[in-house]
Formats: sequence, structure tokens, C-alpha cells
Amino acid sequence: MRRGNILALVGIGMVAGGLAAAVALLLPWFPDVASKERERIDFVFWFTIWICVVIFALVAAVLTYSVWRFRAAPDDDSDGPPIHGHTGLEIVWTLIPTALVTSIGIVSAIVLSQNAALGKNVLHVNVTAQQFAWSFSYPEAKNLTSGTLRLPIHRSVLLTLHAKDVIHSFWVPEFGQKQDVVPGIVTTLVITPTKLGDFRVICTELCGLGHALMRTRAIVLSPEGFNAWIKKQREAAGGPPGQAGEAAFKSLGCVACHTLTAAGATGKVGPDLDNLDKESIPGGQSLEAYVRQSIQDPSAYRRPGYAAQMPPFDLPKAQLDALVAFVVESAKQH
Ligand code: CUA
Repeated sequence: MRRGNILALVGIGMVAGGLAAAVALLLPWFPDVASKERERIDFVFWFTIWICVVIFALVAAVLTYSVWRFRAAPDDDSDGPPIHGHTGLEIVWTLIPTALVTSIGIVSAIVLSQNAALGKNVLHVNVTAQQFAWSFSYPEAKNLTSGTLRLPIHRSVLLTLHAKDVIHSFWVPEFGQKQDVVPGIVTTLVITPTKLGDFRVICTELCGLGHALMRTRAIVLSPEGFNAWIKKQREAAGGPPGQAGEAAFKSLGCVACHTLTAAGATGKVGPDLDNLDKESIPGGQSLEAYVRQSIQDPSAYRRPGYAAQMPPFDLPKAQLDALVAFVVESAKQH
């Protein structure tokens, strides 16, 4: 091979590799990185991408060069020279891919095992998925239950996930991992947040009509901010019923779907709780009994014109009592 030909090959390879690298680097493919686990996953991703860029450059160079250099003349109908096998070449193109794929496998296995490992001082959070809502409870804080996931930064968190009905899947794009939530078995996920902020929690397994609405937020706080939040929730839960009820109404996500002036809620998905007049209560129940039943078992009576979207809420008794009292109290005032 002449020197000019080698230079041409190298030149084409560099242009092709440069284009592939530009596409990989310059386009914003991913959301922000907000956890240690996601950093490791991204490392595997880029490890694989750079292997792909080099292989792509090599193949593009040989292909483009061959098309250009060995093009048949317009009237040349003859066959090419007969070639059969090249043991050296075959060994090379078997060994190189084998080594590359094996190395990706080894790097992935290391990252998977690191991502499953818990750090010290673990925060446990129980996650419950049901059609179509998430709830999070904190055993450390007497099972304080919230509709949003709040986590302290830089602390190892073990999520223990349960499903009440069908298969759901927990996903925070910035944390980089998905974990199925399966009825009858308990699954776990380790998260070590590395960035303060407010992220989306998405259900990423088609679980029914309300699947697209099965979303909430994951809020990463400073350790002080997290402790202050826990303390505030605990105080509200132990305080006067109105305050505890309002706190529950907000933290469980009721505000997203219902209108209730006392809680500053203006949701339109579910019934307007400001106007729970007597005539609309089925079977001569008291307002109190009706509200309680609707929280624990919304399917017992569905108001006409509203889709079956509200999940049943299984709350600690004190929280349920406070929530019922708050809704009844607030509804009566309007
Ligand atoms: Cu739960 Cu989709």
C-alpha cells in the first residue's frame, strides 16, 4: 500500500470518527446527573460509546476508501480475482470484538455490583405503588407517609418497593435507574443523591388508564433541610387536627386532583371538595363516613362524570382521622 493511500484511509477515519464524536458530545441526550449510581451508569455508557466511535471510524474509512479506490470502470463487466479465506484476518476480526464485548461485560458487572451496594448510615424508605399514585413512608420517622419522595443529599437510600395491584416501575431519570414494582414480591433500589433539586418520579410500566398520570416528585434536600422537613411533618401530625389534616392533604398529593379552598387546592381531575353538599352523598351516610370511605375505598362510590382514577389510600389511623376531619371541616365552610 502506498503512503498516500494510508493517509487517505486515516483522513477518512478521522472525519467519520469526528462526526460520530460530535453527535455523541454536542447533542443533549440525557437529563442532569443527580446520583452516584447514575454517574457509574454514565461511565459504562461512555465507555461503550467510545468503543463504538472508534469501530465506526475504522469501518467507515475502509468502506469509503474501497468504494472510491476500487470502483469498477464504466464498461468493466469482468469478475474480481478469486479470493478464499484469510486465516490471519479472521482471527483478528474475531479476537478484537470478543475482547471489546467482554470488557463491556466486565465494566457493567462491576458497576451493577457497586450500584447495589449500600453505604453507611442508610436511610430506609418504603415505596408503595398503586393505580395510580406513589406513596413514600419513612420507618425512621414513625412511618410518616408522603406523596412526594424527599431525600437528603449524599446519603445512601434504600427504597423497598411494594405494589398493591399491578406491575409498576419506579423511575427518576436524573437518578438513572428503573426498578419494577411487582405485586407479591419486594424489590429494592439504592440511590445516593448528589444534586439538590426537584426531579420527576415517573411510572414507567404501562399499568392502566391512569398510567400517564402516575407521577410525583423527588426532592433532594440538604441534610438539615431534610431533618427540618421530617420535624415539621411530625409536628403537624401531632398538632391540632386541622393542621395535621391540611399537611396530609398536601403531602399525599390530594391537591393535584381536588379543589379545596382551605388547602389552596384548585385541582379539577376529581370532585370539588368545597361543595360536598348533602344531596350528593349516597345512601344517607354522614359526610364524615362518606369522606372516610372515599379515601380508603374510592371505588365504593364513584361520582358520575369522574373517571376511576383515585387510588385507595391505606394510611396510619391518626393521619386518616386528621385528613377526614380536615376535609369535613373545610367542606362545611363553603
Ligand atoms: Cu403505574 Cu404505570
